[in-house]
Amino acid sequence: MPTALITGITGQDGSYLAEFLLQKNYTVVGMVRRTSIINLERLEPIQDRISLVQGDLLDEGSLIGVLREFAPDEVYNLAAMSFVPTSWQQPVLTGEATALGVTRMLDAIRLVNKGMRFYQASSSEMFGKVQEVPQRESTPFYPRSPYGVAKLYGHWITVNYRESYGMHATSGILFNHGSPRRGLEFVERKISLGVAAIKLGQLDKLRLGNMDAQRDLGFAGDYVQAMWLMLQQSDPQDFVIATGSTHSVREMCAVAFEHAGLDYNKYVVQDQRFYRPAEVDLLVGDPAKAGRLLGWEPELGFKELMHSMVDSDLAKLQSGVRLPDLQEFTTVRF
Ligand code: NAP
Ligand code: GDD
Repeated sequence: MPTALITGITGQDGSYLAEFLLQKNYTVVGMVRRTSIINLERLEPIQDRISLVQGDLLDEGSLIGVLREFAPDEVYNLAAMSFVPTSWQQPVLTGEATALGVTRMLDAIRLVNKGMRFYQASSSEMFGKVQEVPQRESTPFYPRSPYGVAKLYGHWITVNYRESYGMHATSGILFNHGSPRRGLEFVERKISLGVAAIKLGQLDKLRLGNMDAQRDLGFAGDYVQAMWLMLQQSDPQDFVIATGSTHSVREMCAVAFEHAGLDYNKYVVQDQRFYRPAEVDLLVGDPAKAGRLLGWEPELGFKELMHSMVDSDLAKLQSGVRLPDLQEFTTVRF
């Protein structure tokens, strides 16, 4: 059976992709970076069925070592500094991991065995100040954050290694996707956790930034299937992966609070601390190419996703799962 290497396996998408590939009988190897506390929460249900190996996108030697040891057929590069606001605070680190990290991995593959297939986690954040609505594969890019700029470098270096060395290197331009496993700082999870905490009397107010921003938001479990499909094509190509509809942060609040029987107007406070130096106002993708060539389409809709996240956070808080101090979580400048 084929072997897949996943970088970023401890993250949201990494955990869903690992589960998906196990169902397809892959041998799954996950690359994890060294941390002082081992952070395998998202992998708990499958931990005994995957192999984990240490490596870091900042260290090319470690990547070469992992590729030599496990000889994967497919490499999914999901690792990145993925949170947009942090990219203004740590632009150089963001460039090292999210941009140059891609070159390190591509070059390691070129050196070890350029027959390995490569998936790069590109992002709709590259469209930034959008030049066309909806955004498709041919839409010009205009990134608006150091993160977006770094992802654009990762995108083009993937195209370049494909064209320079004939590698099966593919870039998936994925629009926002969440799940109950989403990092707490991303807006849809901050909202679902905030709703759950307010409902249970653990929090008074939810502090947010720009509520007019609009995002094309899907379910991570659907999106990892598209990653796999891209690597099964004989002809490596780039694809937009999106739902085709968009929703404001305000709408996310309305749907999530309403699901818990609450009116968001009473609880949400707009706070300048959560505004960004440059905003991406509107993202909405056109997934037609993915539908046509991959046969991919999203299954879980926007409302169902928001509802499942609220339900999951209610269950977690009710079961006493220890989440970060909620007051701190909603006021720290994420
Ligand atoms: P995530 O939950 O933030 O996970 C990021 C992963 O990258 C974590 O496993 C993290 O490890 C790892 N990582 C960070 N720096 C690393 C380094 N230097 N070396 C090795 N590993 C490193 O992100 P996600 O939502 O799953 O997203 C997966 C990928 O898709 C990311 O590249 C993201 O930028 C991109 N993307 C995401 C979305 C979305 O809406 N979710 C949309 C488009 C593109 P630790 O656990 O040790 O921190
Ligand atoms: N995080 C956050 N926190 N965002 C807020 C808040 C808040 O309190 N209030 C409003 N927002 C707005 C942001 O200004 C932004 O316009 C929108 O909500 C979404 O923010 P995030 O959830 O942080 O996601 P993102 O769109 O910046 O980035 C995510 O999607 C990209 C794909 O477009 C990340 O997953 C990236 O890794 C990914 O590439």
